[in-house]
Amino acid sequence: MQFWDGRAPTLEEQAKGPVENPIEMGATWPDVIAKLKTDAAFVKEFTAVFPDGVNTENVVRAIAEFERSLITPDSRFDQYLRGKVEAITAAEKAGYRLFKKHACATCHVGELLGGQSFELMGRAEDYFRKRSNVGEPDYGRYNVTKIERDRYRFKVPTLRNIALTAPFFHDGSTKDLHEAVRARRPDRKAALAVVLTMVLTIGIPLGTAITGTAAVNRSIGEIATGDPEAYDRAVARIENWRFVVGIKPLEKACYRNTDLAQHERLVEAYRKITGDDFDEFRYEFDNNYVTD
Ligand code: HEC
Repeated sequence: MQFWDGRAPTLEEQAKGPVENPIEMGATWPDVIAKLKTDAAFVKEFTAVFPDGVNTENVVRAIAEFERSLITPDSRFDQYLRGKVEAITAAEKAGYRLFKKHACATCHVGELLGGQSFELMGRAEDYFRKRSNVGEPDYGRYNVTKIERDRYRFKVPTLRNIALTAPFFHDGSTKDLHEAVRARRPDRKAALAVVLTMVLTIGIPLGTAITGTAAVNRSIGEIATGDPEAYDRAVARIENWRFVVGIKPLEKACYRNTDLAQHERLVEAYRKITGDDFDEFRYEFDNNYVTD
């Protein structure tokens, strides 16, 4: 899925766009092909790989293949994930701990640190309130699906090589990585809203709601990092805290790790506590869940 709204299914489909987009290159493919063909050395090398020569389809394929090579499979972070603890510095370890603690890994998941789902860009009012010119590009996934709940949902970008790819966010609203990370801090007001919902509508005691939310968050972080005992602890926490609202993020964490058997264990644990109201709460939560 390419672009912030996932409108192009493949890299090839994406690569076709910018050439003819008036605010990008503002050219036409026949023009570009004609220009490329004037470079004899280029044509010779190109034809060695694509025998049927320089044409739009082949150029697009070549760009997509180039993009596929832009991976860093043996970075220090990969080495760290494979168990070489000294591969990253103490400061980097501390940063990664914070990343897990603040549940960034629920969305920026797996070794790619993202790229697996579309998520709400904050609660619409919060993120977009600062902006006076909210328009179509801010509707995100909605532009493709036309489903109301997809409004303001964007592809979770990979954070691989993030220091090299400013500006950030679908609107390029910041060039500074520190500022981008600060903008992603969990929204305390939103978290409070979730806790209050639990207290007021489900009747959970305040202390339980707060500690329980923190426990669920810890489980999400642990599941996202592939900790083998994370599910046992998650089930224990569900049984211990006996509330339902945390199911959505937990569920997501499990699905993203594609461990459906473990996912079922969590659902069962919740079901034992909540009975048939389970889906209703899930729906509630999904609609109120404020992302980042
Ligand atoms: C609920 C899902 C979710 C969580 C949790 C989350 N993010 Fe994101 N993140 C997103 C989405 C979606 C975007 C793209 C939004 C946009 O561009 O409008 C994004 C964008 C970013 C970007 C900009 C990337 C780019 O290429 O422009 C950074 C940096 C980032 N997040 C860091 C973090 C950090 C750090 C945390 C934890 C404090 C975090 N995120 C938690 C969903 C999430």
